[in-house]
Amino acid sequence: MKFDISKFIKPWVMEIEPYIPGKTMKGYIKLASNENNYGPSQRVIEALQKGIEEVNIYPYRDEELRGKVADYCKVDRENVILGNGSDELMDLIFKIFKGPILGVNPSFSGYKIFTLALGEKYLEINLKEDFGFPLDEFIEKSKEANILILCSPNNPTGGVISEEDIKAVLDQGKITVVDEAYYEFYGKSFVPLISEYPNLIVLRTFAKAFALAGLRIGYAISNSGIINALYKVKPPFNVNSLALVSAIAALDSKDYMKTTVERIKIDREILFRELSKKFKAFRSEANFILMDVSPIKATEFFENLLKKGIIVRAFGKFSGFVGEYVRISVGTSEENRKLIEALEDI
Ligand SMILES: Cc1ncc(COP(=O)(O)O)c(C=O)c1O
Repeated sequence: MKFDISKFIKPWVMEIEPYIPGKTMKGYIKLASNENNYGPSQRVIEALQKGIEEVNIYPYRDEELRGKVADYCKVDRENVILGNGSDELMDLIFKIFKGPILGVNPSFSGYKIFTLALGEKYLEINLKEDFGFPLDEFIEKSKEANILILCSPNNPTGGVISEEDIKAVLDQGKITVVDEAYYEFYGKSFVPLISEYPNLIVLRTFAKAFALAGLRIGYAISNSGIINALYKVKPPFNVNSLALVSAIAALDSKDYMKTTVERIKIDREILFRELSKKFKAFRSEANFILMDVSPIKATEFFENLLKKGIIVRAFGKFSGFVGEYVRISVGTSEENRKLIEALEDI
């Protein structure tokens, strides 16, 4: 049968460049996806083992986890919705609210992909030359958008937005999503602003500090009106039962997470100092460091480290910026030492 997909497919889908994940190869040190390489707590491992006994039944512990997330974030349960990764919640938010959607460049590439998949328009303005947040330009451009999406700490730059700037953005009255995927590595959150700003949605994830990236679980915090609207389009049983029991156990063993985060923050500073000896590294409040490795090409830098068994993330050029950019996640102390050693003759 002759079959022409272009006759059936929504035309805007053809324009999308699919998400490219960081490379994962057995036996290599992976510093490419901002995971927590210490892994989850023993309590999570035990919960997972026990959870296997219940995989024949549909997930049922979502309300329990919602309550625990609410306690963790110091909000009410009605302010929380769980997602199959925070990715899914971006998708749901962009589904229920009208576009266009405005973000900054460079930032997490998922925002654009989810926007374009829905046939909505994605608007973008460049961060400042030093990757600072360009408040005035952003506010000016926000007049053309209905949803604003910001990431703090920002992936891939590691920079943050001040509370003063976020309030100025929120005052525009648009749906404002703040992605706090890396919150635990920074420590400051905009969640307390949800009572003051009914247009604010904060996204969080268990993928980074809590080391559950493979289980796909995240959450959104907002006022109950927005949360209820998101529930209308949430697929049933969107979070699987192993993810639920693991996240419950992770919140019951927060001290473990905090210990690994403290170690990673100390190592981030050591790594920053080392990287800065050779390259232009940018200060980060997350668990990764962005570097301009020019005049070396980002791909060449990547290949050199790959030969030494280390995988980093090569972005190359960011449109509108000069430089060759590479992002390196902070691994375990031992992995970081091996990275520093490997960089000696690059
Ligand atoms: C800023 C940001 N938001 C969201 C995500 C995706 O999070 P999740 O794994 O919860 O879907 C990532 C993953 O790299 C990220 O960097």
